[in-house]
Amino acid sequence: MSLCFSSSSLFNLHSPPKNQSFSARFSSQFINQIQVSSFPYALKYSSLNLSQPFKCSIQRLKPVTASKAGSVETTLSSFRNKNPKDINILVVGSTGYIGKFVVNELISRGFNVIAIARERSGIKGKNSKEETLNQLKRANVCFSDVTNLDSLQKSLENLGVSVDVVVSCLASRSGGVKDSWKIDYEATKNSLVAGRNRGASHFVLLSAICVQKPLLEFQRAKLKFEAELMKEAEEDKGFSYSIVRPTAFFKSLGGQVELAKDGKPYVMFGDGKLCACKPISESDLASFIADCVLSEDKINQVLPIGGPGKALTPLEQGELLFRLLGKEPKFLKVPIGIMDFAIGVLDFLVKIFPSMEDAAEFGKIGRYYAAESMLVLDPETGEYSAEKTPSYGRDTLEEFFKTVLREGMAGQELGEQTIF
Ligand SMILES: NC(=O)c1ccc[n+]([C@@H]2O[C@H](COP(=O)([O-])OP(=O)(O)OC[C@H]3O[C@@H](n4cnc5c(N)ncnc54)[C@H](OP(=O)(O)O)[C@@H]3O)[C@@H](O)[C@H]2O)c1
Repeated sequence: MSLCFSSSSLFNLHSPPKNQSFSARFSSQFINQIQVSSFPYALKYSSLNLSQPFKCSIQRLKPVTASKAGSVETTLSSFRNKNPKDINILVVGSTGYIGKFVVNELISRGFNVIAIARERSGIKGKNSKEETLNQLKRANVCFSDVTNLDSLQKSLENLGVSVDVVVSCLASRSGGVKDSWKIDYEATKNSLVAGRNRGASHFVLLSAICVQKPLLEFQRAKLKFEAELMKEAEEDKGFSYSIVRPTAFFKSLGGQVELAKDGKPYVMFGDGKLCACKPISESDLASFIADCVLSEDKINQVLPIGGPGKALTPLEQGELLFRLLGKEPKFLKVPIGIMDFAIGVLDFLVKIFPSMEDAAEFGKIGRYYAAESMLVLDPETGEYSAEKTPSYGRDTLEEFFKTVLREGMAGQELGEQTIF
C-alpha cells in the first residue's frame, strides 16, 4: 500500500491485518471440549500438558442441572441481589487488550469469572494455552469457540454452571469485512444465546463510540448486534443490557511516541484538528465496564465514555509529546485528499478484483479515523461535542506518553495491522 505510516496512531482504532489468513488459520484448531484450569470435576485435562497443576476455584461456582434443552432455569434479574462471590460472569474476548483488564477487574471485585479463550490467543495467536492460563490465572479459563454456537454451548454445559452476566469484549482483530461480521456480530450473538441458555439476565457489551456514524463494516456489524440486544431487553423485562461505547484507547495514540523520540516528525492529517478524542486507558475502561455489572443507573443504557481531561486533537497530542521530549515540535501535515484518492483507487480496483474487498475497507477505516472525532455526535447540531462526552477514570494520556517514552510500547501492541 502506498500510504504507509508505521506510526499508526492515525489509523488504528480498528486495525487492519498484516496476515489476513489469521482467523482462517486458527478456525480449524478450535476444540469442542473444555480444557481448563479451574473446574476440576467438569474439565478434561487431556490436551493440556502443563507441568504444574492448575489452581482450582470451582467451589466458588454454582453447578446447575441443565434442562433437556441444555438451558437453565433461573430467576431472572435476581443476580443483583446476590453477593459478588455468588455471581458468575462469562467473559468473551477475555484475551484482548481490554478483555484482559476486564477479567482482572471483575475478579478484583469478587465476581466469579468464566473467561472464554481460544487455544492460541492474542495477536497472531502468539499465546499458547499455558500463556493464556497464566495471563488469566485468577479466572476460570474455558477454551472454546465463540464462532461456533454449538461448541460454545457444549463447553458451558460441560462446566455445569449457571451464568448471571455476559460481558463481551470480542472484536475482529482485523477489521476486515467478513471477519467483522463473524466476530462483532455472529460470535457476539453466540455469546448472548449461549449465556441466555445458561441463565444470563444481563449483557455488557464493549462497543465503540464511532458506531454513531456508521460508515464501516465493523460498525454496521456492531450496530446490528446492539439492536438485537436492545430488542431482547424490550421483549423480556427480566433481561437487561449495558452498551459501552468508548472513545480512543491509549494504544491507538501511542504509535508515534517512539518515532518522535527518534527525531521523526509527528504525522497528522489536514491541520491536525480534523478529529479529537478523550483517550481512555485499559484499566479505567475495564473499571467502567465492571461498574456496568451491578450499577442500576447503567441498566438498558447506551454509554459513551472517554477518559479524564479535555478532548485532544492530533495536533495537541503531538504538542504534548514534544513538550515531554523537551524538543521543538516537528509535524508532517498530510492533506486528507490523499486518503480520498487512495480510497477511490481501491474502490475502483475492488470492482475488478473482489478479493481486494478488505484492502478497500482498510482504506476506509484509515480515512475514517483520520477525520472523524471519537466524541459524542450531538444530534441537535450534527457536530461532535467534547462537552457531551462523559469522562471517567484517572489515567491521562500525558502519563501514558511518559511511560511509553520510558518503557516503550510493550503491552500496547496494535495487532495484525498493515497501516494503510
Ligand atoms: N482501539 C480503540 O481505540 C477503540 C476505541 C473504541 C472502541 N474500540 C472497540 O473496542 C473493542 C475491543 O478492542 P480490543 O482492542 O480490546 O480488541 P482486541 O485486543 O483485538 O481483542 C479482541 C478479542 O476478540 C477475540 N477474537 C477475535 N477474533 C476471534 C475469533 N475468530 N475467535 C475467537 N475470539 C476472537 C480475541 O481473541 P484472541 O486473543 O484469541 O485473538 C480477543 O480476545 C473493539 O470492538 C473496538 O472496536 C476500540
